[in-house]
Amino acid sequence: MQKIDVKISNALNKIGQNAVSDMLPEVLAAKEHLLKGDAAGNDFLGWVDLPENIDGSMLASLKADVARLAAKSRLMVVIGIGGSYLGARMVIEALQSEFAAMDRSEKPYIVYAGHTLSEDYYAQLLKVLDHEDYTVTVISKSGTTTEPAVAFRIVKAHLVNKYGADEASKRIVAITDARRGALHEIAVQEGYPMYVIPDNVGGRFSVLTPVGLLPIAMAGYDIDKLIAGARDMRNICVNGNTLEDNPALMYAAVRNALYRSGVKVEMMVSCIPNLRYLAEWWKQLYGESEGKEHKGLLPHSISITTDLHSMGQYVQDGERLMMETMVRVEKPHATVPVPTDEQNLDGINYLVGKSLTEINDCAANGTIEAHVSGGVPVVEITVPTLDEYTVGQLIYFFEFACGVSGYTLGVNPFDQPGVEAYKKNMFRLLGKPGF
Ligand code: PA5
Repeated sequence: MQKIDVKISNALNKIGQNAVSDMLPEVLAAKEHLLKGDAAGNDFLGWVDLPENIDGSMLASLKADVARLAAKSRLMVVIGIGGSYLGARMVIEALQSEFAAMDRSEKPYIVYAGHTLSEDYYAQLLKVLDHEDYTVTVISKSGTTTEPAVAFRIVKAHLVNKYGADEASKRIVAITDARRGALHEIAVQEGYPMYVIPDNVGGRFSVLTPVGLLPIAMAGYDIDKLIAGARDMRNICVNGNTLEDNPALMYAAVRNALYRSGVKVEMMVSCIPNLRYLAEWWKQLYGESEGKEHKGLLPHSISITTDLHSMGQYVQDGERLMMETMVRVEKPHATVPVPTDEQNLDGINYLVGKSLTEINDCAANGTIEAHVSGGVPVVEITVPTLDEYTVGQLIYFFEFACGVSGYTLGVNPFDQPGVEAYKKNMFRLLGKPGF
């Protein structure tokens, strides 16, 4: 089995190897809490066994719905926010062409809504939907979140206007709670196919439920391979009892050791643009899980080499606050040679014969050397290539490490009391009854 590699040798410039090794008893204890379900947040541990427990009949009906909807249209609007959208977007953007919007011949295409309240965004979306055949998936666990509710009302009105109420109902799928919430009620009343987000899986851990699986399958990716990758990584995370055997324990140990040494910010560094949404998903996963009781590393992200030309200055020379977690992909899917040029006016003939991946790797290695010498510890996470299987591995690896890391930090990694504060103010300002 291909394995995710977590390398910490470049993260030991601020702390010694012992500071990481000494974390083993604590991360093992945190792992036991996850497996035994005997600590805070234990009613939200459904994700731990999810790759083993995915209901086959749910999966078959989800695939049948995807096939039915794909036959109607090759464009789907996926409505959701936070944990109800970032996982699907992360997987799809990791796997699809960066230019998928312009090359629609290859696979069905997903557009997103419900993650913003920008008026112009919806005006622009509706303009596109005027001349596109489309279907809709609306996702909300609570079924009451304002942003997706507003987006669904707008898009549904457009859909009904375009196709009539009967056909509109056949173009909508709802993913929500099994029993409660406004979206559940609407779906029952309108007869939409409905998929359930299990009670014991929180939004940010829900990518391997229909929340992620339906949009990912709709975008043309193999969800069985994604689940297989997560399942294999689960075996490693659940059974590995040393830092060397268990990449999730290693990652949780090194980031907690660095936090204790005074590091405040963890920057995910993606080496290719396809990983931009891995960073967005990871920021929610770690920020919402650990940012409590005035504790936790602040998750931030940059992309290289792009951001070396902007944030690079701060990372090298600014306030010494941060560590980096660089996500590397060994093999690209294609090769693009650097053409030779007889005149060599740009002076880059010395690169001819090297692949762009070799050049990008040299940039990444040069960056690590520079940042380490500037006092920034760098953890490297390497996957052999980007496909459904390795992305499934990454999902489970980051989720398991997050649970272990949160318990090691001493917080409940599975609640999010802080996200309610803005909602109360927004409802009061909007004049919502009761606020
Ligand atoms: O992780 C979380 O709990 C949040 O980010 C939610 O996923 C987000 O607020 C959306 O909630 P809901 O699915 O209930 O609409």
